[in-house]
Amino acid sequence: MTKRLDSTGLTFRQDYFGDAAGWAALVRLLQDIFGIDIGPLQQLGGPDPTSMPFGWFDADGELAANLSAFALPFVLNGRIVHAAGLQSGAVRPPWRGRGLYRDLTVKALDWCERQGFEAVILYTDKPSLYEPYGFRAMPLHRYVGTAPTPEIDAIPARPLLPASADDLALLQLLLKARSPVSTTLSVTANAAMFLINTQLDADVRISFLEDCQAVVAWKMDGTGRFSLLDVVAAEIPSLAAILGGLDIASAAVEVLFRPDKLGWTGTPQPFEGGTTLMLRGLGDDAPHFPAMLSPMADF
Ligand SMILES: CC(C)(COP(=O)(O)OP(=O)(O)OC[C@H]1O[C@@H](n2cnc3c(N)ncnc32)[C@H](O)[C@@H]1OP(=O)(O)O)[C@@H](O)C(=O)NCCC(=O)NCCS
Repeated sequence: MTKRLDSTGLTFRQDYFGDAAGWAALVRLLQDIFGIDIGPLQQLGGPDPTSMPFGWFDADGELAANLSAFALPFVLNGRIVHAAGLQSGAVRPPWRGRGLYRDLTVKALDWCERQGFEAVILYTDKPSLYEPYGFRAMPLHRYVGTAPTPEIDAIPARPLLPASADDLALLQLLLKARSPVSTTLSVTANAAMFLINTQLDADVRISFLEDCQAVVAWKMDGTGRFSLLDVVAAEIPSLAAILGGLDIASAAVEVLFRPDKLGWTGTPQPFEGGTTLMLRGLGDDAPHFPAMLSPMADF
């Protein structure tokens, strides 16, 4: 049975990020529904150029409903998966319950199939919304343990400020040439999400380690534990080099991806981030080791 769609008073559009009014409508939608401001992305190189938004607009040009697809190639067990990501899924309260989101989900997944993506991934706090479309949850794991002895001859790192033009250019170059941070599970590029995520969490620090030509995203939590979120570099430096460059002698370490390139081993622990990573496609493939995508790749 075909389920009902009531789109009375609305106009369907897709591919509207090139239109300033369309982009502004999405910024307002995400601000209103999630309290997230993606506006600064315009000053950080703009939205991901592969984005394909699908939306229903009202007569005033407001987005009643949106779902965006974009190319999100990622590494799984040593191989690059040509995947799409789905993000910015939301319907304004007055328009809910009319089948608008179901309609956009079907349209976005059809587009992904026509583009030849072999898989689709998304984050959600409502997994049951996506299970009917064949999405399944991927368990996520972080790694915890004791810190290695920091390298003592490292050149001190400096803070990197994406809002400054020179630092943004440096970061964009490194993002373009980055190696996957893990061979088990990691994004290959996803520059736009890294850049906007530097702005969305005030606790995340971004540092440049010049001798390693690496940008490191990290935090110190309330207990003094060092938390490593991501490393952007053509060659991933060791955790000892990172701690040396940052001049951190924290005893406890948490790494929010599988640390197979860091010259350090920790113990995997289930990661409770509040959202579930879901995958559609690839049969029953799953990471061969406990793993998670860096929070800097969150979308
Ligand atoms: C979740 C949300 C997108 C649903 O929008 P909607 O336009 O009311 O959805 P639809 O009318 O198209 O319904 C689509 C399906 O989702 C189901 N659904 C709706 N809200 C749901 C919820 N909170 N949890 C699980 N399923 C839900 C509906 O029952 C319907 O199922 P069916 O296809 O079997 O009939 C909307 O409530 C919203 O924007 N919420 C806040 C933001 C959010 O949660 N976004 C998605 C998370 S990634």
